[in-house]
Amino acid sequence: MADYTLHDPDGRTVARFPVLDATVGANSVDVRALLDTAGITTYDPGFSSTSSCNSAITFVDGDNGVLLYRGYSIDQLVEHSSFVEVAYLLLFGELPTPAQLQSFTHDVTYHSMLHEQLSSFYRGFRRDAHPMAVLLGVVGALSAFYPDSIDVFDPRQRLVSIERLIAKMPTITAMAYKYTIGQPFVYPRNDLDYCSNFLHMMFSVPAEPYEPSKILSKAMNALLIVQADHEQNASTSTVRTVGSSRANPFACVAAGISSLWGPIHGGANEAVVNMLQELGSKANLPDAIRRAKDKNDPFRLMGFGHRVYKSYDPRAKVMRRIYEELLEELDLGNDPLFELAKELERLALEDDYFVQRKLYPNVDFYSGLIMKAIGIPINMFTAIFALSRTVGWLSHWKEMIEDPDQRITRPRQLYVGPAQRPYADIAHRSVNGSPAKLPAGPAMPGEKSIVGG
Ligand code: CMC
Repeated sequence: MADYTLHDPDGRTVARFPVLDATVGANSVDVRALLDTAGITTYDPGFSSTSSCNSAITFVDGDNGVLLYRGYSIDQLVEHSSFVEVAYLLLFGELPTPAQLQSFTHDVTYHSMLHEQLSSFYRGFRRDAHPMAVLLGVVGALSAFYPDSIDVFDPRQRLVSIERLIAKMPTITAMAYKYTIGQPFVYPRNDLDYCSNFLHMMFSVPAEPYEPSKILSKAMNALLIVQADHEQNASTSTVRTVGSSRANPFACVAAGISSLWGPIHGGANEAVVNMLQELGSKANLPDAIRRAKDKNDPFRLMGFGHRVYKSYDPRAKVMRRIYEELLEELDLGNDPLFELAKELERLALEDDYFVQRKLYPNVDFYSGLIMKAIGIPINMFTAIFALSRTVGWLSHWKEMIEDPDQRITRPRQLYVGPAQRPYADIAHRSVNGSPAKLPAGPAMPGEKSIVGG
C-alpha cells in the first residue's frame, strides 16, 4: 500500500508516512516520526482514530456487528466452548488440544484458593462497601502476597501470575459477595468446573448441601465468554498503560477493575437494571426517550450506544438469546423487566435520534437480566464483568510485554494554558478563573467533621 503524504498549506510535501496493513479492518498510518519530521502532533481525545498498539487477539467490525476472538466468532464459542477453553484461546492464540486443555484447567483449578490472611483483609472493609471497591483492593493486595510471581521479565512468573489471577478471581468475587451479606466465605471445590465452582462459592452455605444448577452454569459460561475481551476498550487500555511502566500484573488488573467500574463502561450493566426498575412501567418509556434526547438533561439510555458498534452489538444479540433460553429453561414465564427492556429497545430503534446516531443496545443492555435470573444481586454485576474481563486484560498484558515494539505509554498534549509569565506576588493575585471555595450544594458526608462518616 502507498505511503501517506502530509502537505503544508502551499501543497509542498512535508513528510511521508508508511501505512501499516491490518489483516482485516482499517489500516494504520504510522505517525511515530511525525513530531520529529513535521514538528506537530496528532490530536485525538478519546483515541477514536488512534491505534495504540498491534494486537492479534480480538477483532471488532463495528459497522457489521462482528466480534471475533482470535478469528472465531463469539456465537460459535458460546455454542461450543467452555470459558476456560476461551481463556486459553485468548491467551495463547489457538484453541487448546485435549491435553493442553486438561493441563490449563488443572492449573487454573489448583490456584483457586486465597492466602488465608486475605480473609482478614476483607474484614477491614465496611459491610456495605461496593463489591468493586473490595475487588480492586484485594486484587491490588495480591501483589503483596505473591512477590514470587511479579517479575514481568520472567515468562514463567508471568504465566504463574496469569493462572493465579484467572483461578482466584471467582474466589475473590464470591468472597466480596459473602462478606456484604454476612455469610461465611465458601472455599472453592476443585471437582467442579469453573462456572459451577463460582456458583458454589456464591450461593452455598455450610448448613446445607448445594449442587450447582447445570442450566445456571451454562448461562454463566455464556456470559463470561461474551464479556471476556473487547480489544482496546477503556479498561484494557488502562491495563496496557499501567503495564507499560512494567508494573506487576496484579497492579495492572486492579487498575483495569478501577476503569471498568465507571457507569459508562462496565458499570453500565448495573445502571441498566436500576434504570429499568426506576422506569417501572411501559407508560414511562416515552418520557425516558425524550429525556435521553434532551442535551440539557444528563440522563442517557444506559446500555445503549457504543464507540465502535454502529450497528447491533453482537454481544447484546447473544445476551438476549441466552436470556430467552434461560427464561424458558427455568420456566420463569414473562419477566416484566425483560418486557420493559424489549419495549424500550423497540421505541429507541424507531426514533430518529437513535437511528441517526446509530445507537443500538450494547452488551450491558441484557447481561444484567441474565445475572438477575441467576440470582446475582445488582451491585455484583460489574464485579462479574471484571471476573470475565480479567482474561482479556491478561491476554493483552501478556501480548504487550512480549511485543518488541512496545514502549512506555506517554501521549503528548495540545497545550492551551498560559505561556511563561512573571511570578505573581500574593498581594497582586486575583481569584478569577479558579474556585476560591466549593460550589454551592448540599453538605457532603463528613464535610462538617474532620473525622468523616
Ligand atoms: N443515550 C442518549 N444519547 C446517547 C447515548 C445514550 N446512551 N449514547 C450516545 N448518545 C449520543 C451522544 O449524546 C452524542 O450525541 P450528539 O452527537 O448529538 O452530541 C452521540 O450519541 C455520540 O455519543 P458519544 O457520547 O460522542 O459517543 P462515545 O463513543 O463517546 O460514547 C458510550 C460511547 C458507550 C460511552 C455512550 O454511548 C454512552 O454513554 N452510553 C451509555 C452507557 C453505556 O451503555 N455504556 C456501556 C458501553 S458498552 C460496554 C462497555 O464499555 O463496558
